[in-house]
Amino acid sequence: MSCLKKLCHLQLVRLCGLLFLLMPMLPYPAHAYTILTPQTGNGKLMIQARRSTTSLVLKVTNQQDLAYLRVEQVINRKGDTQVIDALGHWKDDGVDYVHYTLPMKRGSNTYIIYPDERELKIRYRPVRTLLNVDFEDPAAHLFHRNAVVPRDCAKCHTEKLPKDANLDVKRLRKNEDFSPVCFSCHRQLISQSMWLHSPSANVYCMSCHRKGKGNTKITVLTGRVDEICFECHVNKQKFRDQQHVHGPVGTGDCTVCHDPHGDKYKFQLWADGLSDLCVGCHADKKDAAKKSIGFYSHGIIQGGGCVACHSPHASAVRFQLHKPINELCTSCHIELQGLSRAIRWATIP
Ligand code: HEC
Ligand code: HEC
Ligand code: HEC
Ligand code: HEC
Ligand code: HEC
Ligand code: HEC
Ligand code: HEC
Ligand code: HEC
Repeated sequence: MSCLKKLCHLQLVRLCGLLFLLMPMLPYPAHAYTILTPQTGNGKLMIQARRSTTSLVLKVTNQQDLAYLRVEQVINRKGDTQVIDALGHWKDDGVDYVHYTLPMKRGSNTYIIYPDERELKIRYRPVRTLLNVDFEDPAAHLFHRNAVVPRDCAKCHTEKLPKDANLDVKRLRKNEDFSPVCFSCHRQLISQSMWLHSPSANVYCMSCHRKGKGNTKITVLTGRVDEICFECHVNKQKFRDQQHVHGPVGTGDCTVCHDPHGDKYKFQLWADGLSDLCVGCHADKKDAAKKSIGFYSHGIIQGGGCVACHSPHASAVRFQLHKPINELCTSCHIELQGLSRAIRWATIP
């Protein structure tokens, strides 16, 4: 009797041992999903961007894991979390590609992916422009570092435009910079609710992002971008010849004010160009731009804004004023016009 028991036990041990040996060969890996983007590489991940969101795409090869798949963001020091809903998931060859848009706050962000509570850490640094970002730094996140469209993504993200794209492909295709493949992933960048920059709205992305010949590499312009702006806005090159050039224009940082794709305010600006934009940097002038016309506030600022007197780019007069001070004031305050040359100048059309 005991002999049989022993034998049984031995068999069991053997079976267990066999299973143990087979473990690494079993068809189910520890977790049946892979983070395709953002790439975590050496563990450090630094995202520098204007927008406080980034894309997370998970490749899931196991239906059971798909059912348990969940992404949570740690929202405070206590470790409380908030579930992030998937944007959608699409299938190719029995494999699911689950898409999320991760919200980020300045500094360290932690996300937890279930099953197996995998941690994803992202440092986010909000920037007004990418001009000063060093993309050579290995910690800097660069999605297109190695490919325009990585193989996994290319299965679905092709040149074919979605039905609701509303783009006149026949006409657009005549331009060699037309890059429809960018549209399916970056359509938010050229959302119709914004003031759009014409070449971006037409998906001529490669007119500014091409590196080398063909569409083999994407580059982010850093350093002086005005060179690329002047390629099309030839007449704007005159900014440079003016005596008084506005700080950021002088350094060629056009995109510190204009988003080259589109933005909430006219002329693709991130704030109302009349005055909100200006006091965004010139914080000391905030009082002058206050909504109530008070003791400090000049009547014209509500209507015409700072640009009623200053050019945002350049002019022949100090402080980029449109005209010398006396002429400037009297051009509106006609009643103040005295016997000066300025009056005659101002009254002659
Ligand atoms: C199985 C098909 C499939 C694969 C593979 C796939 N996607 Fe997608 N993706 C889609 C579909 C479908 C949409 C929705 C497209 C639309 O709205 O026009 C989408 C949308 C997106 C969007 C836009 C989301 C938004 O906010 O509008 C991004 C970004 C994106 N995918 C990134 C990727 C990346 C990166 C990869 C590769 C790591 C990838 N996708 C792989 C099918 C796929
Ligand atoms: C498969 C989806 C996909 C396609 C197609 C795609 N992108 Fe991207 N791109 C991304 C993702 C994801 C990021 C990272 C930013 C984010 O997560 O929001 C990114 C980032 C970028 C950046 C910032 C620098 C970088 O490398 O991270 C530029 C510039 C860019 N894309 C341009 C383009 C252009 C131009 C095209 C068309 C030729 C294109 N992209 C096609 C998904 C895509
Ligand atoms: C007129 C030139 C120009 C065109 C056209 C253009 N870009 Fe850009 N793009 C830039 C510059 C310059 C930057 C860096 C901006 C900065 O200073 O932050 C940039 C940055 C980006 C980024 C990084 C995120 C961001 O918003 O700064 C993405 C993604 C991107 N471009 C995608 C595209 C796509 C997709 C298209 C086509 C629909 C496109 N771009 C068309 C000039 C352009
Ligand atoms: C590939 C050519 C091209 C490049 C490069 C280009 N632009 Fe433009 N831009 C245009 C076109 C076309 C328009 C539309 C002109 C119009 O509607 O009068 C436009 C319009 C604009 C407008 C709005 C003008 C208006 O009157 O509404 C601004 C602002 C602007 N661009 C700024 C820039 C900046 C800043 C850069 C550099 C980052 C740049 N552009 C690079 C072609 C270009
Ligand atoms: C300090 C912010 C700022 C910077 C930097 C800047 N702009 Fe502008 N830009 C503006 C504002 C504000 C307007 C709207 C002007 C108005 O309302 O009269 C404008 C208007 C424009 C327009 C359309 C109106 C016009 O004058 O034709 C173009 C084109 C333009 N900018 C190009 C550029 C280029 C090119 C550069 C870089 C050399 C540049 N901007 C740098 C703030 C800026
Ligand atoms: C992105 C930040 C930024 C924005 C937005 C901006 N400026 Fe400036 N501004 C600067 C910088 C930088 C200087 C150079 C400061 C210096 O040389 O001391 C400057 C200089 C000036 C000067 C000359 C100051 C002097 O002492 O010579 C005037 C006037 C001015 N800005 C007006 C404006 C107006 C009007 C607007 C809105 C259309 C505006 N700025 C928007 C950054 C900005
Ligand atoms: C009615 C015309 C007018 C308006 C509107 C106006 N300014 Fe000025 N600004 C001037 C004049 C004139 C000077 C030169 C003052 C001097 O000689 O000391 C000046 C000087 C400046 C200077 C440089 C000197 C300093 O005080 O720092 C800055 C920066 C400036 N303005 C920013 C702004 C901003 C930002 C706004 C909008 C909130 C604005 N201005 C609206 C007329 C105007
Ligand atoms: C673009 C037009 C414009 C320019 C340029 C302009 N102003 Fe004004 N100014 C106005 C308007 C509009 C009012 C508000 C009038 C009202 O409330 O009756 C005003 C009001 C004033 C007031 C208050 C007057 C009152 O009766 O309350 C003074 C003082 C003044 N401006 C001085 C100046 C000086 C100094 C300059 C030159 C640096 C100047 N303005 C340039 C449009 C302008």
